[in-house]
Amino acid sequence: MDLTVRPIEESEFDTFHAKMARGFGGDPDPKDDPSFFREIIEFDRTVAAFDGDEMVGTGGAFSFDLTVPGGVLAMAGTTIISVQPTHRRRGVLRAMMKAHLEEVRRRGEPLAGLWASESSIYGRFGYGQATDLHQVKLDAGTIEFSGDAPAGAVRLVEPDEARASMKTVYERIRPTRPGMLSRSEAWWTGRMMYDPEHRRRGRYAKRFAVYTGPAGVEGYAVYRQKDKWDDFPEGEIRVSELMAATPDAHEALWRYLTRIDLFPRVEYWNLPVDDELPWRVVEARRVRRQVWDALWIRLVDIPRALQGRSYRAEGRLVLGVRDPFMPDNDGRYLLEAGPGGVTCARTSDDADLELDVSALGALYLGGRSISTLARAGWVRGDAVTLATAGALFAWDPQPWCPEIF
Ligand SMILES: CC(C)(COP(=O)(O)OP(=O)(O)OC[C@H]1O[C@@H](n2cnc3c(N)ncnc32)[C@H](O)[C@@H]1OP(=O)(O)O)[C@@H](O)C(=O)NCCC(=O)NCCS
Repeated sequence: MDLTVRPIEESEFDTFHAKMARGFGGDPDPKDDPSFFREIIEFDRTVAAFDGDEMVGTGGAFSFDLTVPGGVLAMAGTTIISVQPTHRRRGVLRAMMKAHLEEVRRRGEPLAGLWASESSIYGRFGYGQATDLHQVKLDAGTIEFSGDAPAGAVRLVEPDEARASMKTVYERIRPTRPGMLSRSEAWWTGRMMYDPEHRRRGRYAKRFAVYTGPAGVEGYAVYRQKDKWDDFPEGEIRVSELMAATPDAHEALWRYLTRIDLFPRVEYWNLPVDDELPWRVVEARRVRRQVWDALWIRLVDIPRALQGRSYRAEGRLVLGVRDPFMPDNDGRYLLEAGPGGVTCARTSDDADLELDVSALGALYLGGRSISTLARAGWVRGDAVTLATAGALFAWDPQPWCPEIF
């Protein structure tokens, strides 16, 4: 194999698009408008692998701002990774990941992040499972709310009005929840609002429910419905996104979604793991939840990443980090969080805590128990150090990433 890796030219878009679809076992949908994908793809951030003249691998990055505990940092969203079935297990992905992470470093982004098709792939490249999600299924007839209905109103609105309200709510919540991503106008158009019939899989068009309270729009739910009749109505509601900036919006939107006649099956693929829905209802068990890993984080510039988030406690910790895939990150880093702020720099002091960069990625957004990772052998340190590190890295709310990219 004569392997080279480079960004694509705009003229290579069609081949890239087709190869990516085939890498996932499909074809580009001829009914899809490729201009949306063309608009969000960043050509200079693509990594395509060639065997001679043949394109055999695709990859790229979206430039996001990621909410981290107490701040926002630039994150390369690692994406559209595929290798043609004829060229697998020969190091093509490894070569593309090298090129991708070197580019992230050249740009000065401290973090990379991704959603993994298989959880076995990306640990070796330094990514750690930083967030989880709850896939929930509700049988609406069993959902009884314990509190009073909020005073505001839920309205169904058309896409144009919905878009403006959704952006307002999203931007209100985004700084408060680690794991959330910036959304460009092209992203709103091509991802959130895009709703051609062939994408609905037998469901109706997206519905946009907006909750307005005394202070204006406070939340929204985007969902699709599917008719189903047996002897009784068994219709389904699939929520694609629910954002509530206030407790009232949360209660009102879930009451609304579970009280639509003929549609008793309600599903949401991505409830935050610390969502209050189970606590709002009389029988929490009726909110059936299944856990999945969601956003994976990779620290590319360790001092900037650690200095760029806040810590709930004060403390001093020397981290001994191993990074087999980017070995020049190997070393010891002194993290100090105090009343004057946070600093992180390389040090020659002995390490208190030893860990791989992927474990640091898992801990980074504050959603992991350090003692769990220590028991599983991912982190090594004495009990006092683990208690200090646990207090430093923990965060509330839990991290949550609302969308796959
Ligand atoms: C996943 C995929 C990109 C891997 O590409 P590849 O060129 O075969 O990977 P490489 O040969 O560079 O392998 C690199 C390492 O990852 C491992 N690996 C690759 N794919 C793996 C998988 N699916 N499960 C477990 N390990 C995997 C290899 O064994 C190798 O391990 P090593 O470095 O310890 O020897 C390819 O199988 C693919 O296109 N799959 C379908 C699309 C997909 O799932 N894309 C990922 C989207 S998030």
